[in-house]
Amino acid sequence: MVRCVDQIGVIVVDQSSKTAGVVARVRGMVHDGTLHEGDPMPSTRALAAELGVARGTVVAAYEQLDGEGWIRTRHGAVARVVASAGAFGMASVGDRGGAVVGDLPPASDPGATAMAAAAARVIDCRPGIPAVTAISQRDWRAAWRAAADAPLRNAVADPLGTSDLRAQVAAQLGLSRGFAPALDRVLLAAGTSEALSLVTEALRMHLGRAPVFAVEDPGYRTGQRAVRSAGGTVVGIPLDDDGMDLDALSAAGPVDVVLVTPTHQYPLGSVMPVVRRQRLLAWAAATGTLVVEDDYDSEFRHRGSPVPALAALDAEGVVLHVGGFSKTLDPRLRCSYVVLPAAVPAEQSAGAVAGIAEAVLATRRARGAVVAEPVQVALAHLLRTGALRRHLGRVRRDYTHRRARIAARLDGVAGLEARALNGGLHAVVVWPGPATGQEVAARMAGSGVLVSTLEEYGMTPGSTPAGIVLGYGAVTVPELDRALDALIGAVRDG
Ligand SMILES: Cc1ncc(COP(=O)(O)O)c(C=O)c1O
Repeated sequence: MVRCVDQIGVIVVDQSSKTAGVVARVRGMVHDGTLHEGDPMPSTRALAAELGVARGTVVAAYEQLDGEGWIRTRHGAVARVVASAGAFGMASVGDRGGAVVGDLPPASDPGATAMAAAAARVIDCRPGIPAVTAISQRDWRAAWRAAADAPLRNAVADPLGTSDLRAQVAAQLGLSRGFAPALDRVLLAAGTSEALSLVTEALRMHLGRAPVFAVEDPGYRTGQRAVRSAGGTVVGIPLDDDGMDLDALSAAGPVDVVLVTPTHQYPLGSVMPVVRRQRLLAWAAATGTLVVEDDYDSEFRHRGSPVPALAALDAEGVVLHVGGFSKTLDPRLRCSYVVLPAAVPAEQSAGAVAGIAEAVLATRRARGAVVAEPVQVALAHLLRTGALRRHLGRVRRDYTHRRARIAARLDGVAGLEARALNGGLHAVVVWPGPATGQEVAARMAGSGVLVSTLEEYGMTPGSTPAGIVLGYGAVTVPELDRALDALIGAVRDG
């Protein structure tokens, strides 16, 4: 540890910008193998004292390094190195046992070294995986201890979910999504797909026929599959720059449900403006159509202020809101929540909307509990203690930094256009051709980088331009840089 402080100090005194000096040096020490994954960093106080600089200088450097994915800082815990030369398949060149101040290997060529060394490693930039490992270990363990400490009961699980977690979810929605539903409107599901399957089954029973869902084209194919396998049918509606094209929707013939991602259209990234939201809600109320809002990644907004949920505007009781913990924490928890539309007088509702809340509740009770109760206890603990809020604050910074890196790297690269960068944790990159998304993705896979193609999201041929969808939630900044280089190379090769 002391050696580490000294090594950083040697470099820093020669830097004009001390923060930049610390950052550059730590990067270099990871690349050259002097620092390894898991190594503790000195405390910001100790390093600042050692270097004779303000603590804020070191804090800023650590934040930068954390945002770039070199180290991981955690409130109340020792910061640790998370990227390492070993992870890139490099031999360590630093003599960890005997290095002394003054005989450090040069740290001047990190980019070239990392590029060469990383070639052996597969970088998974397919969308969908957030920065799962960024959660504070202390908070994570405390949540699971709370689950283990919960009293054992001889009881059947509540199919709606524990009232504790549902109340935490309702309060969280009030803080972050602009509406705070009553507890009896909130129930749990095992992920968005199970929520969509639940709503489809409820409608099938309720209407006595297969419900018709209008879905975004391009859109979330997994959700569409869930609707179909629960006995619903789907009709693709084209999009424009503001999301689902409402003229095309009303021309599509009668539908029972409109399934939308209004805050960050998946995958193209548009935000539905408030005027269109109001128009959609008015149309839904007039036609008795249920609007299902898939609010999958709205916690991450990189530009502008947060956009309230569509449910926050819903005075007519037509919106069924679905959110979850797959993007904020970990998709493997398999926990999402459904917020039923607010009750309106029976004579004011029609079609699929009339009686929908009761139908979904009855179906949930018939299906039974789907989220393991220890998972619910752990999640409620993360929400109640503010651990999730702290985690979101941290990963939001990381994602914003990565997003800016993508924008900067692709800016001015002829023919490439990055989209969907206003929020979330994926980017869409399109080009005018001639290469297709499949061809570019295959070339990138040849360089060890996995991405999804934009074409995979389209229901009708030609509904998307040639492009790829690149997830940046779960990769480090060096990995992201390599993915972007591979992308540029793959498009140019076409
Ligand atoms: C549009 C969309 N909705 C929802 C989800 C979350 O799905 P689940 O809750 O089943 O993990 C995702 C995950 O990638 C998504 O892209």
